Amino acid sequence: MFDARGKKVNQDSNHADTIGKTVVNVGDSSLQEGGSCLIEEPLDPCAIVVIGACGDLTRRKIILALFRLFQNKGLPDPFLVLGADLNDMTTEGYRDFIKESIHDLSGEDLIEKDWDAFASHLHYKTIDPKADSPYDDAADFLKEELRSSGTPGNRLLYLAVPPTQYIRIIQGLGKAGFAAEDEDWGGWSRVIIEKPFGRDLQSAQDLNRDIHEYFREDQVYRIDHYLAKETVQNLLMFRFANAIFEPIWNRRYIDHIQITAAETLGVEHRSIYYEQAGILRDMFQNHILQLLAMTAMEPPSVFQADRVRDEKIKVFRSLRPFPVDQLDEYLVLGQYAAGTMDGGQVPAYRDEPGVDNQSLTPTFAMAEVFIDNWRWQGVPFYLRSGKRMATKVTEIAIQFKDVPNLMFRNVLAEDIHPNMLVLRIQPDERITMTFQTKVPGAKVCLQPVTMDFHYSSVQEGVPLAAYEKVILDCLLGDHMLFVRQDGVEECWAFLSPVLDACENCKDREKLLHLYAAGTWGPEAADDLMKHDGRTCRVA
Ligand code: BG6
Repeated sequence: MFDARGKKVNQDSNHADTIGKTVVNVGDSSLQEGGSCLIEEPLDPCAIVVIGACGDLTRRKIILALFRLFQNKGLPDPFLVLGADLNDMTTEGYRDFIKESIHDLSGEDLIEKDWDAFASHLHYKTIDPKADSPYDDAADFLKEELRSSGTPGNRLLYLAVPPTQYIRIIQGLGKAGFAAEDEDWGGWSRVIIEKPFGRDLQSAQDLNRDIHEYFREDQVYRIDHYLAKETVQNLLMFRFANAIFEPIWNRRYIDHIQITAAETLGVEHRSIYYEQAGILRDMFQNHILQLLAMTAMEPPSVFQADRVRDEKIKVFRSLRPFPVDQLDEYLVLGQYAAGTMDGGQVPAYRDEPGVDNQSLTPTFAMAEVFIDNWRWQGVPFYLRSGKRMATKVTEIAIQFKDVPNLMFRNVLAEDIHPNMLVLRIQPDERITMTFQTKVPGAKVCLQPVTMDFHYSSVQEGVPLAAYEKVILDCLLGDHMLFVRQDGVEECWAFLSPVLDACENCKDREKLLHLYAAGTWGPEAADDLMKHDGRTCRVA
């Protein structure tokens, strides 16, 4: 705590932070109040309306997240969940359907007692898409339920549907009054939307315009699930809660940065979506650019959603426009061919069900980008993501510069490796710092050693799964982990010309390098870095 002159003053921080709020421990009753894993209990009683209530996302993630929050007292009291979908079903039938599918999909044995208590809050409404106002019925039902249970009309609307349906559903919900914060409802209304937010700048702007016809920007919560990962959130703490890194976090000391999100999974059952999206829309426009922004942003003056989002947007605005006339010097696209993974053969992307056998959709990309500002001028950021790669790993590797004067050159045969800091986002979450030490002995020999911090070694605190975290934050009205309209549009403004150039160039085929599944991507990506005198990091 600081006084008006900026001087630090003593205080009981736990006490001051929790005045006027209820605090609960999540997931671990052994944690004491005052421990480091306190969350604020969402105090506003509310209804959670899930559109697409029978879909994959709802069954796999949303209901499970709600159930876990319920078990850990992370939901308000009272609350109700209204599932809405096209399937003709009763509430009883819906409760059984969800219970079964959670069991089948997640393999979880639900704790009967908790499940029964939770299920009593679950309701279902069938939507008739042919009706003039398909959501009127659900609105009337919800108002009635809320009134009779004495719950204020707060609503969290979760759009768990394919993005092609967003506009139609938002219009339907809007017309049925779901967005209104008026006396009739008597409470707030918030809407959660999943990526992708459009497929280029124009469609993202159109989508935002349609959303804003009914919902104000502060009612909109756009999810990028990477932002909800503990280790991604920790990036800001690491950079800005420690004094020792910021002075060297710039072009004077950093040679380059590699941001990698490698997956072992292939396209799975998502070929219809993926054929239209490809790696640049699927991973770069959102997750990778968010990681870049958090690595490169300036410290905001206060840890508050809009101040943090402002700083991230400044990074997007400072991205050097991609040199689309020299695409192959700054961008490598790849697509996985057949290969071996975990000792078994896996098919090529083009042989996956639903994929065109001549498909030119990239499943891998490496891009070299620059940020034109004082801090980062001239520092390359190598952004890389791919499917069917050798290992699943997401990390940010910061390669520092060589020491300015090689004072050991007369006694050392080998080169000195520059320092490297690696922030491993997943799996095996950790932070490692590599530096040089002397090998014990009479001769002067150096060896790099690694200082390792593993998150799993921290005893306190229970991480929330990404979906639990985003739902909880939305209930609390905290936009910190959600993407703002201008952020979405800035990212598209950077990427749309690249996509245009790639998809409309004459030699589209030549841009695409095949790589065997189970490898680190096409050799051309290594060459891109070699050309700059640098080495592609493999985890
Ligand atoms: C999603 C992409 O946003 O992120 C998927 O659509 C990708 O294609 C997934 O597999 C990766 O998420 P995670 O959390 O497994 O790294």
